[in-house]
Amino acid sequence: MIHRRSLTRRAALGLLGGSAAAAGGALALGSGPLAGSPATAHSLKASVIDHALRDGQTTAGMMSFAPDGPPPVLRLHRGEESLIDVTNGLDEPTTVHWHGLRIANSQDGVPYLTQWPIMQGETLRYAFSPPDAGTFWYHPHCNTLEQMGRGMTGILIVEDDEDAGFDQDLVLNLRDFRLGPDGQFINMFRARQAARGGTQGTVMTANWREEPTYDLPAGSLLRLRLVVTDVTRVYRISLTGTDARLIALDSHPTPASYQPEEIVLGAGQRADLAVRMPGTEGETVVVNTLVAGRPVALARLRATGQDAGRRLEELRPLASNPVAEPVLADAEIIPFVFGWGPGDRPASSICGTLGYTFWSINRTPWPGDLPDAPGAIARLEMGRSYIFRLQNETRYNHPIHLHGLTFRLLSSNKRKLPPLLTDTAMLQANETMDIALVADNPGDWAFHCHVIEHQKTGLAGYIRVT
Ligand code: C2O
Ligand code: CU
Ligand code: CU
Repeated sequence: MIHRRSLTRRAALGLLGGSAAAAGGALALGSGPLAGSPATAHSLKASVIDHALRDGQTTAGMMSFAPDGPPPVLRLHRGEESLIDVTNGLDEPTTVHWHGLRIANSQDGVPYLTQWPIMQGETLRYAFSPPDAGTFWYHPHCNTLEQMGRGMTGILIVEDDEDAGFDQDLVLNLRDFRLGPDGQFINMFRARQAARGGTQGTVMTANWREEPTYDLPAGSLLRLRLVVTDVTRVYRISLTGTDARLIALDSHPTPASYQPEEIVLGAGQRADLAVRMPGTEGETVVVNTLVAGRPVALARLRATGQDAGRRLEELRPLASNPVAEPVLADAEIIPFVFGWGPGDRPASSICGTLGYTFWSINRTPWPGDLPDAPGAIARLEMGRSYIFRLQNETRYNHPIHLHGLTFRLLSSNKRKLPPLLTDTAMLQANETMDIALVADNPGDWAFHCHVIEHQKTGLAGYIRVT
């Protein structure tokens, strides 16, 4: 159920005209900064742009959070209030969701559930203080397949309180675009694929470039942040040509002993690596993913200059984030079944519909982003521990994502799971996985598959924490 009145009030407070925003609109917002507090202001402009994604080919109708290129990397500070003004320069409504951030529900960016859509020409100020450091990202939650498919996926970094000793920090925003041979967009999805594993893109990119090369000082220490913002693809990452260590997954530091052969990242997931650049000028590190069993280069890191002689052992470990540990003995078990949908035609919404229902959670397909949301699929009591039993009855992978809360992977009927903290569980075909969390952030939190075609054809819902 939606509390229309409070939503309207919130929207009215948060919506600023272009000039009001400049003239200290923060005062109108209850959550604005106190005088003298270190609130940092950022602005994003949702824009339709033409951009040369491939050499010599301009792609028309891309969408970005900047009027002149790829979405900016936002760098925020843990525990400090950030103000982010989002202006909608698209010809359609939008919202922005801050993926992985455990912030107030009112700032979470889900249409109707937590805010009204930002209409054409409007500016909405988001305000929050990120509690955790790490690698996150941001994206729309309205007409999501189209807007993300055309480019609206940006990286958000919350800086560590203390530096671990890296010389550089490089972000790779990994995603595909669905372009034809002429460099123009083709249909965002195929129904046949949406009912299966999801539609793959045709052009693989890192930071909106095909196989870019980055020059970095030889023998230096690099923090490499890989962010899968693709709507579908599961990346199987490996690096050649260097020593690298996994240091964090989905924003949270990982145990030093956890060093998988390949790093599997579903849609929405992130990995942070500590990389020692080769010591000899011209030597190259290749970041690969496996496609149909073969390595494909996503980006290259080329050593330049004299050997800086750094060693991975010189890095200090990342500080852990303040995530409450669930008390398993007291935890209530809540089952969720991810399965097929009945195939009806969903109602239309200003936030878009793909026109099909293929999937469901607990046999209930999400009807679309509508002012009258259905009830929560689970109700959690504030402060209590829960085990979610995620059962995938389908033959496809589903990266299951929960907003606003971080959970710990417990166990699976198919494999041994590392005890990682995350916001996205990569649920394999026919797998049943237990995850655990403390319900310590109140509100209605979206819970959905991050293969956006699955999300938009039924595989979505929300939980309510009160
Ligand atoms: Cu990145 Cu609702 O998700
Ligand atoms: Cu999210
Ligand atoms: Cu899915």
